[in-house]
Amino acid sequence: MFPEWFEWFVGQRHVRNALEHGSELSFFNYRDSTPLTGGQVDDSPYGGGAGMVLRVDVVDAALRAAYGDGPGPARVILLAPSGRPLDDRLAAELAATPHLALLCGRYEGVDERVRDHLADETISVGPYVLSGGELAAMVVADTVLRKLPGSLGHVDSAIEESFSEALEGAPEYPHYTRPASYRGWEAPEVLLSGDHAAVREWRLAESRKRA
Ligand SMILES: C[S@@+](CC[C@H](N)C(=O)[O-])C[C@H]1O[C@@H](n2cnc3c(N)ncnc32)[C@H](O)[C@@H]1O
Repeated sequence: MFPEWFEWFVGQRHVRNALEHGSELSFFNYRDSTPLTGGQVDDSPYGGGAGMVLRVDVVDAALRAAYGDGPGPARVILLAPSGRPLDDRLAAELAATPHLALLCGRYEGVDERVRDHLADETISVGPYVLSGGELAAMVVADTVLRKLPGSLGHVDSAIEESFSEALEGAPEYPHYTRPASYRGWEAPEVLLSGDHAAVREWRLAESRKRA
């Protein structure tokens, strides 16, 4: 419902980098393709209750407007708090998928027939409730894009980081930089030793401690 939220997102350096390296992001507003009059996209819930529900015919029309009768996206993902929790493994799976469509809900949520018939999968960015799917879509897009070539300045940054295979799925080890001593708070000596094997060992051990 709010594609303009993404203007900030696409302006970010790592997102711009990924776009310059061939990734594409497109945004669609349900209101632009709704078959209903007056830009209507939602309706009151059957059975009563608070809030409004995004209609299945509106979401279907949006997908058709975006993809026509041609091949659709490889994976249509509905964003919802009740979905599969997003983690690094799922992000890697998504990064290996050539074309994703992220469906953002609003209001009370989305007619369940979207999940049953239009979406391939439902993903949650965490066990809490956001006001809309836009921030959730940005979280998904961000973690996926940073795994794609060209996004990060240093190609190794996304290979060895929290939850990656390189760290056996554990959180990343701690980082330190200058000054080596500050208010009596010392950086670990091993990191200043120049002994690469010892540094590596220390980092893996610290990472495992955090698992
Ligand atoms: C206010 S929420 C609806 C919450 C819903 N009534 C419930 O209790 O689960 C509106 C939309 O925000 C998005 N959303 C909210 N929290 C989310 C989360 N943790 N993960 C993914 N999407 C979320 C979904 O697209 C959802 O349809």
